[in-house]
Amino acid sequence: MRQHVNPLSRFFQLPLHLPAPQDLFDRPEQPIHLDIGCARGRCILGLAALNPTWNHLGVEIRRPLVTSADRDALQSENGNVRILFCNANISLEGWLQALPVDRLQRVSVQFPDPWFKRRHRKRRMLQPPLLLAIAAALEPGRELFLQSDVLPVIEPMVALTELSGCFERPELDAKPWREDNPLPVPTEREKYVLDKQAPIYRVLYRRNGEPLPPLDQLEARWQEIDNPAERIPTGA
Ligand SMILES: C[S@@+](CC[C@H](N)C(=O)[O-])C[C@H]1O[C@@H](n2cnc3c(N)ncnc32)[C@H](O)[C@@H]1O
Repeated sequence: MRQHVNPLSRFFQLPLHLPAPQDLFDRPEQPIHLDIGCARGRCILGLAALNPTWNHLGVEIRRPLVTSADRDALQSENGNVRILFCNANISLEGWLQALPVDRLQRVSVQFPDPWFKRRHRKRRMLQPPLLLAIAAALEPGRELFLQSDVLPVIEPMVALTELSGCFERPELDAKPWREDNPLPVPTEREKYVLDKQAPIYRVLYRRNGEPLPPLDQLEARWQEIDNPAERIPTGA
């Protein structure tokens, strides 16, 4: 199976309608943990088994992984986990917008694909529109967890999240990186990195009460930080 797909290719630009919680879970009123780029779903399936009072949704762009993972999800006895195929950058925003207030309570982006070259930055998972859609769906205090073993991957994610002004780290968390994983189940990639005893960079954020910045402003400031050589012209 291909390790990386190009999320910008035409096929992955087609928006998909993702089912609402009542069409996914036995108890749709439960809080949701959304894991974006969940691969074979081992982490989100494990979390669902441990936390029957939460619902769990994994989304993944590699369809063969989704087929196997969602087969396991549908067999889970709690009816509280599903894995869906989509390009998170195209199809999640509408789903997030349609959620009842405070239904989404945790989002994780774990070990996203390492598109760290500048010319590949548009392929990165955490882009300003997705970050703002997540921020809009989370009520104050709700969580966004990021982790990676590649510094040039996590650093832009952290920079973007902090630039938005919508998130804060728990006061007692070590900086720049948390010492441990707040989630009790490691992902596939995490297990591999832990076995190699290589470092993992983790940050937990909580939504604060600040309003969302305008998308074009965030994009422009993000562009300045992420690619100072190609500034967006500002105004006439
Ligand atoms: C390096 S893997 C890590 C998988 C898993 N989170 C883990 O830690 O083991 C990143 C995953 O994100 C998926 N992915 C990349 N871009 C995506 C996108 N735009 N929408 C949904 N999934 C995406 C990839 O296919 C891949 O399975």
